[in-house]
Amino acid sequence: MVGETKNGQQMWGGRFAAEPSEIIQSINSSIDTDRRMAFEDILGSRAHADMLAEQGIISETDNRAIQDGLDQVTEEIRAGTFPFRRSLEDIHMNIEARLVELIGDPASRLHTARSRNDQVVTGFRLWTRRALDSAASGLRQLQRVLVEVADRESDTVMPGFTHLQVAQPITLGHHMLAYVEMFERDSGRLLAAASRLNESPLGACALAGTGFPIDRDATSEALGFDRPMANSLDAVSARDFALESLAGLSICLTHLSRLAEEIVLWSSAQFGFVQLTDAWSTGSSIMPQKRNPDAAELIRAKASLVTSQFIALQGSMKALPLAYAKDLQEDKRLTFEAFDTFELCVKATSGMVETMAFDRDVLRRSAAAGFSTATDLADYLVRELDMPFREAHHVTGRLVALAEAGGHDLPDLSVEQMQSVEPRLTEDVFSVLTVEASVRSRQSFGGTSPLRVVEQIEQWKIRLNMVPK
Ligand code: ARG
Repeated sequence: MVGETKNGQQMWGGRFAAEPSEIIQSINSSIDTDRRMAFEDILGSRAHADMLAEQGIISETDNRAIQDGLDQVTEEIRAGTFPFRRSLEDIHMNIEARLVELIGDPASRLHTARSRNDQVVTGFRLWTRRALDSAASGLRQLQRVLVEVADRESDTVMPGFTHLQVAQPITLGHHMLAYVEMFERDSGRLLAAASRLNESPLGACALAGTGFPIDRDATSEALGFDRPMANSLDAVSARDFALESLAGLSICLTHLSRLAEEIVLWSSAQFGFVQLTDAWSTGSSIMPQKRNPDAAELIRAKASLVTSQFIALQGSMKALPLAYAKDLQEDKRLTFEAFDTFELCVKATSGMVETMAFDRDVLRRSAAAGFSTATDLADYLVRELDMPFREAHHVTGRLVALAEAGGHDLPDLSVEQMQSVEPRLTEDVFSVLTVEASVRSRQSFGGTSPLRVVEQIEQWKIRLNMVPK
């Protein structure tokens, strides 16, 4: 921090005689965080100054000087030469102070009919709007990666689990598409939050509006908002747009974490379903044989960090009387960090999924274990022998017990052994006991059959712009 300013030069220093304590400066300053929305602040100031000039509140000459000065500030920030000063608290006062240094008098007119309360939340809404958009496009990229894996593995048979016990055979393509569906809802939530937040608080001023003849429609339009917010108290104190964004990120990270957990399980020696590439594994400092799925584990942990950021913001808002209070300054750190974490987790997931090598033999063998086609056998009894399902369930249970007692799987029973439980059974029954037949048969809409999976893949490719229309 260069050129620390003394209290007399603080923007609000007029009524103060003594210097602020160092501690209050540290607790009050947000510049280390909110410097990330410098460009959004400048956009807001440009729109505000243009409007003030248009309305005859400041002169056209002053507006020109302000706009040119903001060009210079932009340049300095880009070049890394802008003097960020902690004593000036936040990005708004840093930029305004620098503008005064650069262009003098006209800069002091910029804050007419504006308060930091509407200024900060204008910049913050602009920042969050863009962040939501880029979070949603990161998710689209991940969806494309998942669809590509699904395409390669549309008929790869793997075990489907309930209670983490083998339940029924499924296809790996189907499993991947389950996440594509989740991420579609997630990006829908983020985009809905972006469209709901798109109202302009600028012109609400400190809390009550202003006596100057401002044009809030003009600034709203210039900043790409749909309309000015209709209540100035709400405009400066609402942060539900940030809460909603954090909730959306947190829900999506819950899904990313489930996938991460599956990657952790699948890449273990006990499962052996998948191997992560070297680029996505880490070693152990003591055990030379180890390949650890650290990225997946960290995604699991980071998911709850973002949830805690949602809870932290919700906690600081729920008992806040209208309108602005400084508690709200903590909103940006929580939000910025949550978006950073989110972006990292989405990228890491895309990278891992894109490069994972599935072991189809292991998947198939594991799909066949644990009597996974027992339901197919029960369905067969219903279909071919017209047995009521409950009875078929019972008969199949006895066949499973018989196989288990002999230490083998259902398809290893002889037809005679089967007939000892249900005399009407013939050789034909074996046709439904393979895992391939099992997945092929599940052709109900949304089911795991490769036929249905391929249909879904084709639709996703269109929706995700993966094929020329
Ligand atoms: N840095 C402040 C924030 O992030 C800007 C608003 C300050 N307003 C005030 N009345 N002190 O919330």
